[in-house]
Amino acid sequence: MGIVKCVGILTSGGDAPGMNAAIRAVTRAAIYNGLQVKGIYRGYRGLITDDIVEFKSQNVSNIIQLGGTILKTARCKEFTTPEGRKVAYETMQRHGIDALVIIGGDGSLTGARIFAQEHNVPCIGLPGTIDNDLYGTDTTIGYDTALNTILDAVDKIRDTATSHDRLFFVEVMGRDAGFLALNGAIASGAEAAIIPEFSTEVDQLEEFIKSGFRKSKNSSIVLVAESELTGGAMHYAERVKNEYPQYDVRVTILGHLQRGGSPTAHDRILASRLGAAAIDAIMEDQRNVMIGIENDEVVYVPFSKAIKNDKPIKRELVNVLRALSI
Ligand code: F6P
Repeated sequence: MGIVKCVGILTSGGDAPGMNAAIRAVTRAAIYNGLQVKGIYRGYRGLITDDIVEFKSQNVSNIIQLGGTILKTARCKEFTTPEGRKVAYETMQRHGIDALVIIGGDGSLTGARIFAQEHNVPCIGLPGTIDNDLYGTDTTIGYDTALNTILDAVDKIRDTATSHDRLFFVEVMGRDAGFLALNGAIASGAEAAIIPEFSTEVDQLEEFIKSGFRKSKNSSIVLVAESELTGGAMHYAERVKNEYPQYDVRVTILGHLQRGGSPTAHDRILASRLGAAAIDAIMEDQRNVMIGIENDEVVYVPFSKAIKNDKPIKRELVNVLRALSI
């Protein structure tokens, strides 16, 4: 295996707060270890369009506190084709980039896995997504910040929900994963969460209504994870209007608000540790792994495992929510 002298770094897929902290960590750790760093703009697209700049330590000054990604991001269709990936490989060679650090979610790491196999390029992935849906790490970069944004919003919605005795369905992101909805509900004191993981098992709305939620409360908030499996918040509001017309129901869709903002301390520390560990992994000749943190320890998770396995939702969390929302 050749010695790595120059690392390319890119952010791909949906942006997540803490990506900048990760870019900073990878850049600084690489320079600290005597490596050259190249910043690749707009995800894999930058490898195809040759949008690449050498990064010095100063390029990542004053960014740890910023949301979004200074490298910008994209979901790149061309990179899903062998032709596109060939162009990307040729660009890497021209720039002397001999390893890649990819910060992104499921789709981005799937791209890295295929690229690494096809062109024998060492690729290290960092879990960057607000969805927290990557197997092999306790949390992903951006998840904690998004959760805190949800809390902030739900606290405000509660003021008006209580004043009007209303039932609110608040739709949160997650792309078919219920982590934001379930933990957001626990942390905001919401009455229930409707998540895709259980949508084929039970009618979660019926379960909620039957729980007798109006015995002790005049208003309620239900967090709904966006997903075709749940049908989203509008779907449940419509159902309530038709099936339980006695309730005054409203919907709030939090949307992309959840992707912005300054990263929390948790996300900054996570991103810094993962970024530094990515360079350690490269120095140790690791390749084609995602770096995760499990039980406060850095772990290397083969791409195949991180992508293929669904990260399980703990049933205990559902029980906690149920018990505390009486
Ligand atoms: O994967 C992160 C995420 O924010 C999902 O929660 C959401 O479904 C999706 O990205 C939205 O993507 P876009 O910004 O392309 O609309």
